[in-house]
Amino acid sequence: MVDIEQSVDIDYDYSLDRDTTTLSRHVLQQLQSFSPDAQDLSALMSRIALAGKMIARRLTRAGLVEDALGFTGRQNVQGEDVKRMDVFANQVFISVFKQSGLVCRLASEEMEEPYYIPENCPLGRYTLLYDPIDGSSNVDINLNVGSIFAIRRQEGEDLDRKATDLFQDGHKQIAAGYILYGPSTVLVYSIGNGVHAFTLDPSLGEFILAAENIQIPTHGPVYSVNEGNFWQWNDSIRDYLRYMHRHEGYASRYSGALVGDFHRILFQGGVFLYPGTTKKPDGKLRLLYETAPLAYLAEQAGGSASDGTTPMMDIVPKELHQRVPLFIGSRENVELVESFIKEQKRSEFEASHD
Ligand code: AHG
Ligand code: MN
Ligand code: MN
Repeated sequence: MVDIEQSVDIDYDYSLDRDTTTLSRHVLQQLQSFSPDAQDLSALMSRIALAGKMIARRLTRAGLVEDALGFTGRQNVQGEDVKRMDVFANQVFISVFKQSGLVCRLASEEMEEPYYIPENCPLGRYTLLYDPIDGSSNVDINLNVGSIFAIRRQEGEDLDRKATDLFQDGHKQIAAGYILYGPSTVLVYSIGNGVHAFTLDPSLGEFILAAENIQIPTHGPVYSVNEGNFWQWNDSIRDYLRYMHRHEGYASRYSGALVGDFHRILFQGGVFLYPGTTKKPDGKLRLLYETAPLAYLAEQAGGSASDGTTPMMDIVPKELHQRVPLFIGSRENVELVESFIKEQKRSEFEASHD
């Protein structure tokens, strides 16, 4: 028989405290406030978390569900083949923000123009920018993919629906993060008070705090790049790669999903790079919903991000789907790549002035 007197002495505090540190509670704790702004951010994050759970659920059973995998046969605005999972995940984010009163506009990789939710406009004070499925080439082979998001405050009523207030630098983001669909589903976010990771506990249906105030090591062993593009890079990037090959202590890791590669670097250090190529001088990745949100996280975690010369957070977009080269990760690793780029620019400048 259980001795009630004795069992009450057992210290459950640690595990109960851990299991009740849910995402929405954490957001409120971070802001140390129950102000309307704090409530808004908490509600926004809860809805993003719901989107993450819905996408994770579909991915988990994708091989068993008809019409979950494969291509739609359409191309998106960037000329990339659209997968069924891209469309589903894009729609999930729209659905979770309906009737929210919070988000009037959503801008995503999969939509040429921002999507307006009429019932939330013009009062919706926030805009969601997102990449619904990052790394979609991994979807059909059951490897990790992610979703990337950023929240910006809507400035003005945007009556002409041109969303021009979005063409501002990364410092205008008030929250950013990603969801990684891997062996477990992990949500990483920042609202300007450090970077925090939550793991989805499927039995509770909640994201539970797993790591708080994550700091990227100042230097790391990993470089993450598609070396298949080697002959399409300019000399500086090729020289940098040759340097990595000749020096001990470096390892190459590349998953085909930026979110997964960045997640490794966030915890273990290193650098991810997607430089410009001859075919795509601005690289492949998009500023507003891929590189700027991750740059926000990198800086919050003590790392750095740039396009090779300018800090990513300072770059002002000229268009919604603008691409930009990306160098992101541990401060020293990013500085090393940048030094090769600087060196090439210097010698080009000198040659042109001889
Ligand atoms: P998306 O699936 O959203 O189009 O993004 C894919 C991105 C990124 O996740 C990844 O690092 C990179 O593209 C892979 O591109 P390559 O196949 O050219 O290396
Ligand atoms: Mn992507
Ligand atoms: Mn995508």
